[in-house]
Amino acid sequence: MAPAFNAERLTDSAKVEKWFKRNCKDVLSRECTAIEKVDVLAYLMGLK
Ligand code: HEM
Repeated sequence: MAPAFNAERLTDSAKVEKWFKRNCKDVLSRECTAIEKVDVLAYLMGLK
């Protein structure tokens, strides 16, 4: 899911928000905070 490996990842903000909402609820039983989303995005965008 890192843009370095698939240029189409993280390009559609509506889709990113949709999947954050769905997957955070599945995994954490709550929505992620803005800080948690920034951490995940920074990690994925930093992969080379
Ligand atoms: C806290 C844990 C998770 C976070 C923060 C997370 C985050 C995300 C984000 C941001 C996207 C959008 C990616 C994009 O737009 O390129 C996404 C997509 C997706 N995630 Fe997760 N995810 C998590 C856990 C999971 C789990 C446990 C599953 C399945 C077992 C899963 C399955 C998927 C699928 C199927 C997509 C859509 C991929 C596609 O569009 O091709 N995720 N996730």
